[in-house]
This record gives sequence, C-alpha cells and structure tokens, in this order.
Amino acid sequence: MSTLPWWRDAVIYQIYPRSFADADGDGIGDLPGITARLEHLRDLGVDALWLSPFYVSPQHDAGYDVADFRDVDPLFGTLADFDVLLDRAHRLGLRVIVDLVPNHSSNEHSWFQAALAAPPGSPERARYVFRDGRGDQGEQPPNNWVSNFGGPAWTRVTEPDGRPGQYYLHLFDSSQPDFDWTNDEVREEFESILRFWLDRGVDGFRVDVAHGLVKAQGLPDADLSIDPHVDTTTLLPMWDQPGVHDIYRRWRSIVDDYSEDLVDVWGDDADRVLCAEAWVQPSEALSRYVRPDELHQSFNFGYLMTPWIAGELRASIADSLAATETVGAPQTWVLSNHDVVRHASRFGYPQRPGLARMPGIGADDPQPDAELGLRRARAATALMLALPGSAYLYQGEELGLPEATRLPDDARQDPTWERSAHTDRGRDGCRVPLPWSADDPSFGFGPSALSWLPQPDELGSLAVDRQDGTEGSTLELYRRLLTLRRSRGLGRGELSWSDDQDGDAVAFHIRSGDLDTVVIANLGPSTLPLPEHLTPLVSSGPLDGQGLPPDTTVWLRHLHRP
Ligand code: NOJ
Repeated sequence: MSTLPWWRDAVIYQIYPRSFADADGDGIGDLPGITARLEHLRDLGVDALWLSPFYVSPQHDAGYDVADFRDVDPLFGTLADFDVLLDRAHRLGLRVIVDLVPNHSSNEHSWFQAALAAPPGSPERARYVFRDGRGDQGEQPPNNWVSNFGGPAWTRVTEPDGRPGQYYLHLFDSSQPDFDWTNDEVREEFESILRFWLDRGVDGFRVDVAHGLVKAQGLPDADLSIDPHVDTTTLLPMWDQPGVHDIYRRWRSIVDDYSEDLVDVWGDDADRVLCAEAWVQPSEALSRYVRPDELHQSFNFGYLMTPWIAGELRASIADSLAATETVGAPQTWVLSNHDVVRHASRFGYPQRPGLARMPGIGADDPQPDAELGLRRARAATALMLALPGSAYLYQGEELGLPEATRLPDDARQDPTWERSAHTDRGRDGCRVPLPWSADDPSFGFGPSALSWLPQPDELGSLAVDRQDGTEGSTLELYRRLLTLRRSRGLGRGELSWSDDQDGDAVAFHIRSGDLDTVVIANLGPSTLPLPEHLTPLVSSGPLDGQGLPPDTTVWLRHLHRP
C-alpha cells in the first residue's frame, strides 16, 4: 500500500472531555478519566483522537471560552495529567490532536481584564474588537451583527470611571470576546501557543471557528437573512474573509518545522496537522483552507448537513471529492460532533432535500423514530467509512447513541438556550456523559452517580459493556468497519461510481492497490438485489436472502478477486 502521510486517511475520534469519562467522581469528565479509557479507542481501531478544550476556563461555553491557553483547568486535571495522557496514547499508537480557539478568549482572560481596565484607544483594548456605539450617546451597537448563539454580537462595557462606554464584539457568547487579528500581538501570541503545545508533543490542532478570525474592514452591517451555515454564495463580513489565509500559511510553516520532532514515536510518518472548523460553503470555498501551504484538513460540514437522500449524497460526495482534488488535499467526512444533533436521531426524522442544520430538540418537539434513525445511522457510517480521505467520529456514535431529546430545560447548560430567548434548545442533547457499564451508577461514566447532564435511562442498554463482543451491536459494527477500512486501504483508494446506479442507491467502487471494494447503500423503500459475483465483507444490518434491505449499506468484494 502507498506511503502517504498518516493524516490523509486517518480516522480521528473526537473526545468531549466533560462527557467521556470521569476519574474523580465529580460528575464531569477529566483527563485521567480519558487516559484510563484509551484502550477503548485502540480496540475501536481509530488512528487519532481530538480533544475538545480542557484549558483553564469559566466554562460558559463548555471550555470554548479559554482564560489561559497554556494550562489545564483544575476541573479536568493538570498539565502533568495531560503529559501522561499524551504519552499513554502514543504508546498505544494513537495520535493526539488538541483544540485551538483563536477567534476569542474568555472574558476572564488576563488580556480582556486588562482591556476593561484600560481606556478606549489603549494597546490593551486593541487586542480585542472594541468600538464606540452608534447614536448620540453611543446607545446603539456599532453594527447589526448577531451572535451565533442568538442576541446581539456586541456588549457595552462600563468604563473604569463608571460611565457607559464602548462595545466589544463577540460572535459567540458575551463571555467570549473576539480577538482583533489585525493586531501583531495577537498573531504572535497564537504562534507562541502553537509552539507551547507542539513542544509538549501534540500531533496537531483542530482550529475552532477557522473562518471567523478576520473581519471585513470597517465592520459593515451584514445581511441578517442569510444563514452562513448553509448559504453557498454570499460572503458575510464576519466569515471567510480572504485575510484568514495568511494566518494559516504562517501556521503551516510552523507545524512543518516540527515534523521531524516525533520521529522516535512515529518514525518518518510524524507530520503534525491542522484541521479547520470552517462552516463555509460551497466546497470550492472550503478547499481554499487546504491549499498545499495552508491547513491539512477542513471538516466537511456540507456532507454532515446532507440529508439521507441518495441523489443528494451522491452529489455531495462527488462535489466534495472534486473540490479537494483541485488543491491536492484529502477530503474529510463527518456525521456528528458536539455542536449538532447526533446522526442516529437526525436520520430518525423525515428527510427533506437541501442542506440543513437542525436546532436542539426538546421534550415537546416531534420525536425522532429511534429504530429508523439507528438503522440509517449505521448505514450512513458504513457509507462514510468507505470514502477516500479522512473521517471524524464523535464519542458515543460507536455505541449508536441517540440525541438526548427529553432533557429537562432547567438542566440545559448551552448558552444558546438563554441567548436565543428559549427558542433554540442548543447542543446539550449530544453532550450527555457516555455509558460504559449498564449496571453501575452513572452507567460507569465515573465512580459516583453524578453526571453534569442527566443521562436518559435508555442509555444503559447501549453501554460499552453491553455491546462489547455482542454480535450485531453497533460497537462491533464500527470495529469491523474500521478493521476492513484499514486492511482494504479504503481511505487511500480511488472512488469510481458504479454504472448500474439505482435511483435510491449510492454505489461505488474503491480501488486501492490490488483490492477492489464495492460499496452499496440502499436509501430506498424496497430491497435491492445484489449482484451474484460479489460476496459481502460487512453490512450495516442483516442482509435478507433477497438482497440489500432498505437503509442498509454493504461492502462487497468480487468472488474471485481480492
Ligand atoms: C465551535 C465549537 O465547536 C463550539 O462548540 C463553540 O461553541 C464555538 N466554536 C465557539 O468557540
């Protein structure tokens, strides 16, 4: 098989530290908890893990509000705990990617505190985006931008002399002031933060809000009718500004300088990588982030937002592959993460054409069909893991976890719920602590019964210990898919579409070296006959004598060929 760098076909597992495993029993996951469970990831067969933020933070946005970018929050442990985790992961053959949050800090960051104490026009304020308000008394915010979590994107401060003063920009919560990336001090600080973690031995960074760092000059009003997550044409003044690319060229040269440093761990396959979280459409715009001298990867959110409809999926795959091919980057594939409704629940609703980002679900909302959702989720994962490029998994999806759709509203912690004036329930439903053992308190999440979000009762039956070694379980399906993906080189193969494409099927071949793997997903209502010269390698659900049942994906090989 070819000797491409590891990240081109890596399967990367996202750990959301609050909810993965709790070692000290306070109900919040932590770094020692993760270290103790790393074998789960080795046995699953992933290449790397990505850790959502564990840095010092008041946790107003679950750690994406960072008060100190170079230290671990006591909630999660210490820097020494991080070193132990990293070392253990490396020994198990797992790379470790950490989250970098460069668009904003916490309002408790020392820089922001200094900015509040300093006068307008000061160098302290110039690290953030402070502006005077509009109107005679400055009573209107500087422009009409809204926060991603709802409400205005500006908050007015009280000046040190007690008078109402300037406004600061926050594209997210008011506790997350945006940095001003035209300021060299900000650029230098983040280069230094990159080096801090690279020196510790991390294998890369996932870059939070990578499309948001640079804002259009003059901060003009925006067209608020546009949903930047799904719009494919319009450039908004706060997203995807051309200036962001200079930052990533600089970062690429920094991480490239470190590619020799971990040779004792990884031999000559020791690249450090950068992956953009950029909600940018269309695919060609997104592919600008992964030009050869920029980031290595960018999450393919267009694919994540594609409904379970054959024609839409075929188009999304073809379009995604074409876009990254032009810049020579691998495409990435993802179905779930800590910001979206889990795919086992998304696919349990009627599917409508077009890209969509579903808001959080509450007990009063229409509920997903859990059985249908899980069947489709397994089929969707089997389809995704066959695709060439790199894939991201979100903790718990290997158990088939559904979204927690009936969380009590008073338990919700995502700032979206409050900021949207209780119109969007936000992201807590995908963040519920994992079930490890069905019969233990907190389903084995930790040694106590505590869990920072309530775990629905039905989680017990999905616990790791119920699925481990159980034929047909979602966990065993993921293990089998990942083993075959590796042995058949699917991530580094070439995709060609099958000629006899049924309207309701997504069918292609992946050729990798001598191996030819045929992949067929049936998204239609009736069973599809399977060609007789093919033999199944794995399927997302049972095959019946007649062929491939609805909402099922199968990988096959030719009877007389490898
Ligand atoms: C994207 C992260 O994934 C999300 O969880 C967070 O709320 C925002 N960025 C702000 O950092």
